[in-house]
Amino acid sequence: MSGAEDYRNSPFSILERGIVGSTNDEASELARQGAPHFTAISAKAQNAGRGRRGREWSSPPGNLYLSMILRPNCPVAEAAQLSLVAALGLGDALGEYVDAGRIAQKWPNDVLVDNRKIAGLLLESSGGGGPRVEWVVIGCGVNIAFQPDIADYKTTSLDFAAGRETPVDEFLQIFLQQFNKRYQLWTLQGIGPIREAWLVRASGLGKEITVRLPHKELRGVFEDMDASGALVLRTNDGDRELITAGEIFAEG
Ligand code: BTN
Repeated sequence: MSGAEDYRNSPFSILERGIVGSTNDEASELARQGAPHFTAISAKAQNAGRGRRGREWSSPPGNLYLSMILRPNCPVAEAAQLSLVAALGLGDALGEYVDAGRIAQKWPNDVLVDNRKIAGLLLESSGGGGPRVEWVVIGCGVNIAFQPDIADYKTTSLDFAAGRETPVDEFLQIFLQQFNKRYQLWTLQGIGPIREAWLVRASGLGKEITVRLPHKELRGVFEDMDASGALVLRTNDGDRELITAGEIFAEG
């Protein structure tokens, strides 16, 4: 951590738990019961941690398991932008521990250090039947002490990458602070500056990639990410495809 600034300085009220099923499930339940904006739940471990696309998220003690409850005043469709805001905040927080050049944002919302996955996000929301979002839960898993195996991914941990041990609670506080800065920017200026900052750190941008979709794979150049968060792929036969969900893999 750089300097002596007080890192316990964010607007979040944090509820600390021991072992839970999934902090996202706990947070969603609290949100349904009316928990306020800027409530966060962290757990020491999870025994039913969930990743994207229905995958299990291995959750032993020693890593960060955090879910934030937000009540942004925005249309349901815009709430998905918050996963980019959070992914950027994670990258910023990791930048307190390792050189910025080692950190990359991997579409759609993973964070890499040294080209290895260190963190992932799972966003869930409820519109309550109306046009504006009622609540958003953003679940963050960060490998601090351990680097669980994930199929098709190389992984790393903060302790390994930084060459020293980081208390989970310290990283949690730094992340909430960094997330809040990006969140305030998003509420004031929208997705524009978030997208630009994300693109500066984007893994594979301008390069040949493979996009794995549920029933097929596409190959092409990762040209851009548009304001909706969709990946813009220039396929090898020259078509411009907008990818809204999938996994990307860099060539070679
Ligand atoms: C992914 O990359 O597949 C997303 C992983 C998200 C894991 C976090 S850990 C805290 C929260 N609770 C869960 O069950 N999942 C998220």
